[in-house]
Amino acid sequence: MPTRTQVAIIGAGPAGLILGHLLHLRGIDSIIIENHDREYVIHRVRAGVLEQGTVDLMHEMGVGDRLAREGLRHEGLYLACDGTRHHIDLAGLTNGRAITIYGQGEVVKDLIDARIATGRPLHFDASNVSVHNIDSEHPSVRYDVNGESYELSCDFIAGCDGFHGVCRPSIPAGALCAYEKTYSFAWLGILAEAAPASPELVYSVHQNGFALFSMRSPQVTRLYLQCAANEDLSQWSDDRIWSELIARLRTHDGWQPNTGPILQKGIAAMRSFVADPMRYGRLYLAGDAAHIVPPTGAKGLNLAAADVWRLSRALAEFYDEGSTAGLDAYSERGLRRTWRAQRFSWWMTTMLHRDATATPFDYRRQIADVEYLVSSRAAMTSFAENYVGVPLE
Ligand code: FAD
Ligand code: DHB
Repeated sequence: MPTRTQVAIIGAGPAGLILGHLLHLRGIDSIIIENHDREYVIHRVRAGVLEQGTVDLMHEMGVGDRLAREGLRHEGLYLACDGTRHHIDLAGLTNGRAITIYGQGEVVKDLIDARIATGRPLHFDASNVSVHNIDSEHPSVRYDVNGESYELSCDFIAGCDGFHGVCRPSIPAGALCAYEKTYSFAWLGILAEAAPASPELVYSVHQNGFALFSMRSPQVTRLYLQCAANEDLSQWSDDRIWSELIARLRTHDGWQPNTGPILQKGIAAMRSFVADPMRYGRLYLAGDAAHIVPPTGAKGLNLAAADVWRLSRALAEFYDEGSTAGLDAYSERGLRRTWRAQRFSWWMTTMLHRDATATPFDYRRQIADVEYLVSSRAAMTSFAENYVGVPLE
């Protein structure tokens, strides 16, 4: 195995894989090191909403064929409140921009196939991954694969290893400021073998708590319901999940999600987190390694894609022109986009969920927030431009 590369990428989630491919297209060498196996990375059920900019990037990278065939383009969505569904015309409010439903596992699968086709290294099942000399011009990564130990020297390390990875904690205490907010609730998510009952997403505010109707394909519905942060999944029988989802999503016009066998269920924590700066020496953090948003605004994967798009351009500028301008600006530009997404995700989360400490006043105010949003073109335009995502810059 090579022991030298230009860019060592830690993590084969969306951030690491997109970065690897963008660097490949620029003729820059990289090695991707992932500590789980390929099946785990593909089958982890997570994001579903791709912003217009992320879809465009997949096409520009030449990995958009299956996305074009199987992705579900949505030009609008519904917000439901007190049993009434209100439509928001995302495309009409944003000059034709839209979102595409395409599971994160599918994105990752397409990117792994593309990586393998390039012949460039991607190591699954690595253990004892650690980063060294990150404040020098000669950083290195140590890891074990198949019982062998490796020391990889490189010019740069991209920390694309998610929120629980090793890269961020390798930055000396004091060099990083962490901004954090935790929430008193989580999401219980299911995949069900049931045809989607609506062609577009439904975000619902309900006195029992938030619920979300989404989908993965013409045969599979994806649903979420707000639960306690420390919820015990074993307390949720399939019957209980369906009756709560239907209670929270059913609208007065008789609409409700179709039911069917539950294929998968899990609980996702809610957190807002920002690491500032996104860089230390020659270690650059990207995606969930640098920031986490609560899933309500569907921004996490899209932010990860925007980070590595910027990082790939900065690295190309360095190798092609010897300029560090893009690398020097990486953190500041990334933080600007991150805080914009943080604000939007926090706002959507607090508007749509019931907090354990909320009073009846708070709930009435939340309903008023939603009613204003769906009745004002100005408010809907602001929502739509954030939801479909600002262009990559
Ligand atoms: P990850 O996907 O976490 O990838 C990091 C990789 O690094 C993993 O493969 C991990 O195994 C690996 N790794 C970790 N530690 C190490 C180590 N020590 N050594 C080597 N490898 C390591 N985002 C959206 O944009 N739209 C949505 O609709 C959306 N919905 C969501 C719904 C849910 C329920 C959840 C939980 C999240 C959702 N997100 C959404 C967020 C999105 O899934 C994440 O933001 C996204 O996965 C971030 O990608 P990443 O590559 O930065 O990190
Ligand atoms: C999905 C996830 C989200 O976080 C969201 O806001 C909308 C849809 C999904 O998994 O389909």
